[in-house]
Amino acid sequence: MTQSLTIARPDDWHLHLRDGAMMQAVLPETARHFGRGIIMPNLVPPVVTGAQAAAYRERILAALPEGMTFDPQMVLYLTEDTDPEDVAAAHASGLVKAVKLYPAGATTNSASGVQNFDNVRPVLEKMAEIGLHLCVHGEVTNHDVDIFDREAVFIDRILDPIRKATPELRVIMEHITTKDGVDYAKSGGDNLGATITTHHLIINRNHILAGGIKPHYYCLPVAKREKHRLALRAAATSGDKTFFLGTDSAPHTDENKLLPCGCAGCFTATNTMALLAHVFEEEDALDKLEGFASKHGPAFYGLPVNDSTITLTKSDTATTFPEKIKSADGPVTVFDPGFPVFWDVT
Ligand code: NCD
Ligand code: ZN
Repeated sequence: MTQSLTIARPDDWHLHLRDGAMMQAVLPETARHFGRGIIMPNLVPPVVTGAQAAAYRERILAALPEGMTFDPQMVLYLTEDTDPEDVAAAHASGLVKAVKLYPAGATTNSASGVQNFDNVRPVLEKMAEIGLHLCVHGEVTNHDVDIFDREAVFIDRILDPIRKATPELRVIMEHITTKDGVDYAKSGGDNLGATITTHHLIINRNHILAGGIKPHYYCLPVAKREKHRLALRAAATSGDKTFFLGTDSAPHTDENKLLPCGCAGCFTATNTMALLAHVFEEEDALDKLEGFASKHGPAFYGLPVNDSTITLTKSDTATTFPEKIKSADGPVTVFDPGFPVFWDVT
């Protein structure tokens, strides 16, 4: 029996496209299903100025295969030297949709991030004044804080004080991984949103660590206990507009994943929509998928919903997804949910 579901074309509100050969390889995987993406600026060197964001946007559009459309939403990487006036100009021109806060050292290419949060107050105040959104990687980096507690501690020590000091600032808690994150996002009012990845709805920390270490399930923030995964599932499928899709699809070559000190990131662009249909069906919430993937994000960003659609179809035979995407830098392994999936975008 076939079942199908047509929804407004989804957007990805947290996406790593990289640059050069890697971007060339992964961009079609996203553009095939998604209309827009919030493009993470953690390149080497990072996308810090309006001029760098404009040049990066041009490179993305140039890499888009003939016949595909995709509208990259550019983001500036916040450093302690970021100039509030450059940020304001990039926003006023319509180029930049958000600024990204990485605590220094929290994740891949975050070395230029923020160490002393007082030093970015003038930028945050300017953003609140002009209505520019702040995307937050919400983990502390203190070595004395357990990696599984870093999100909850960040909320208490950093995020809540920033929001109390600047209540008008519109903040997106990105890739939340805990019940603490869900609860805080829910209680945050209209100026607080949260993205959830596909893989955090599927794996908990056992998937990474039990029965042998699985580097392809290692990402940051790291997947937590089962009770947190269940809280994320409940939030994503609830219909609450606070929560929307940000895949955090983060390609690294196998060579860079399969190392004694391997890179963090799960590559999910290829099968995200099929996996989400599977998850939402399991939660008896297929009617909430369009809100999560296609409507709540644009509403938070003050943008229209895409006017085209995609159709998801469920068939009797399991869908085969490519195991790897080839790039000139080397193969990238596609996230394997570990169970058969019968949905596909058709
Ligand atoms: C991301 C990357 O590889 O750029 N990695 C990840 O595990 N999610 C960085 C990030 O978003 O933390
Ligand atoms: Zn990311």
